[in-house]
Amino acid sequence: MTHNTTKHNFSLTRANKEKTHETTGRVIWLTGLSGSGKSTIANELEKLAFSDNKVVKTLDGDNFRLKLCKDLGFSQEDRLENLRRVSEVAKLFVENGTLTICSFISPLISQREMIKEILADDLILIHIDTDLETCKSRDPKGLYIKAIKGEIKDFTGVSSPYETPNNPNLTINTTTMSAEEAAQKIYIYYLETIK
Ligand code: ADX
Repeated sequence: MTHNTTKHNFSLTRANKEKTHETTGRVIWLTGLSGSGKSTIANELEKLAFSDNKVVKTLDGDNFRLKLCKDLGFSQEDRLENLRRVSEVAKLFVENGTLTICSFISPLISQREMIKEILADDLILIHIDTDLETCKSRDPKGLYIKAIKGEIKDFTGVSSPYETPNNPNLTINTTTMSAEEAAQKIYIYYLETIK
């Protein structure tokens, strides 16, 4: 589509924002099954970064789908569009000198490739590697039971695939680590990579 728009260049740069915020903008992207612990870890990570005086913002799957992406469902096409919008929003936050935590299932390798294309070197990909059986037994929102009964279609891990990331920056196993420990490990990794 042609929009006849012109990109305007604003005077303040990302470097200006990062200096003032004393925060290096990055996107810490948590991928994993529903019930794997992404949101819980995101919450701990946000608190940890905030207590270290970082400017931090979390973008979460359920919240996004209630507002900006409420027109989208769970076909792979709709998930791709959901993740594209999230990536573009995350990029805006990063350019504003914000540590941005994204918590989305992001199930397919091809979808994560698109995220990487948008966020490039600002992306830190973390696989929250909780096995399906554990997620099913936790079932915090009662969604697995509904999906198994056929009441929810295209449900990740039941009737829709989750492809394990090939080369995440970190893999977190929540069966051997608490959410607080996971958040610490991820935050230390972030601090190391921005040195
Ligand atoms: S993603 O695949 O596009 O990355 P996203 O993280 O935004 O998914 O949304 C996942 C959340 O939506 C889940 O945590 C769950 O609460 C809810 N949900 C509703 N239907 C489905 C479904 N069919 N598959 C997965 N999650 C679903």
